[in-house]
Amino acid sequence: MGKKNIPENNLAAEGLTVEGFTPTDHDHGSHDHGNYDHGNYDHGNYDHSGHDHGGNPFAHAALSGVPYTSYLDFSANINPLGMPKSAIRAARKALAELSGHYPEPTYHELRQAAAAAWEVPAENIVAGNGAGELLDATCRLAAWQEAVVFTPTYSEYARAARRAGLPVRCLPAFHPDHLPSSSLLKELPTPELKPRSLIFVCQPNNPTGTLVSREALAVLARIAAQKEGLLVVDESFLAFCPEEAACSSLPLLFSGLPVLVIRSLTKIYGMPGLRLGLSIAAPETAKALQAALPPWNVNSVAAAAGSAALVEREFLTLTRERLTRWRVRLVKKLTSAAAGGTLLQPLPAAANFLLTKITSEHWSSPQLTAALAKELVLVRDCRSFPELGERYIRLAVRRPADQDRLLAALTRLTVRPEP
Ligand SMILES: Cc1ncc(COP(=O)(O)O)c(C=O)c1O
Repeated sequence: MGKKNIPENNLAAEGLTVEGFTPTDHDHGSHDHGNYDHGNYDHGNYDHSGHDHGGNPFAHAALSGVPYTSYLDFSANINPLGMPKSAIRAARKALAELSGHYPEPTYHELRQAAAAAWEVPAENIVAGNGAGELLDATCRLAAWQEAVVFTPTYSEYARAARRAGLPVRCLPAFHPDHLPSSSLLKELPTPELKPRSLIFVCQPNNPTGTLVSREALAVLARIAAQKEGLLVVDESFLAFCPEEAACSSLPLLFSGLPVLVIRSLTKIYGMPGLRLGLSIAAPETAKALQAALPPWNVNSVAAAAGSAALVEREFLTLTRERLTRWRVRLVKKLTSAAAGGTLLQPLPAAANFLLTKITSEHWSSPQLTAALAKELVLVRDCRSFPELGERYIRLAVRRPADQDRLLAALTRLTVRPEP
């Protein structure tokens, strides 16, 4: 499976231990809700219907009558630098010149751009209408027997699996009381796993911002190999992390293990409305994935924008440097006495978002989310992650000026503590 052309720098990074994985740290104690016990299939406890993913200022605007542009959205984890200028130009050109034609069906240019940026062969790459579409197709590309997800995590793994008719095994691995240490492996009841299991890992994990070490991912990939299954690593937020080279699963894939990597381009390149994601897999898996997708699934404008964005190496460096700095600033400000210091405690995170505990008993997550929305600031109520209850919100890392608006709103709320 796969070609053995792992970039030198990735090989050198193999074996690095990173924040987020301690093989022995596994005590979930009384915080395990019991819904995700080993061997217990989840029959709906992890169903998030009725809760949104965040990122919906339109719904708030429709209810409040305030234009959606007046809302400051901390609920969706999108690059605050926006789209690279070259990608905007390419999108405009494509709209003008290509809208009257069907897209080039193999997405040759886009796949070549990704191949060059990620140092992988283009034949390993499949384009999707957002990472979401690729998750969905991955669940349908073979006769899988179950899906395994490490919770709390992005809900679409379980949803996509269910849409494909698969039972979902939820294993608690990212409990916030035990972060940043998280052991996926201790949670995995290997002998009990069905053959042809689809194992999902979010790297870094949404909503906790935890990075999983490559050693842990390698063990999971070997288990997937034993079970004739597939390890699906969602690296949609990894491009935001300076640790990307050490933490990507591409070297595992190109060492011949059954790994499929999914990367969203919508977050890092600031274009969630355009929809664009790419999967990297062994050529035969890539072929099967392509066959599970409809023709022309990516529009020409998104493909052109993605092709241009992937060339922008400086943009990535700038994004990582700024967002790391702005994350540190946000943590410091949130925990300072002046604004929300007695209200919120962000958890250690490696990503461009912060899972944040509400430490004041005066507020639940829905109350705080609603109060902030009245201040025209949107945050992600984490109630939809069952193990987080009503005690957590998630905040995207945004520019300092936007952070100051959030902090001012929090200060106003802490001055009058009753919701
Ligand atoms: C972890 C994760 N993966 C994938 C997606 C979907 O990305 P896309 O916009 O490319 O469909 C999201 C969206 O929030 C996400 O949080």
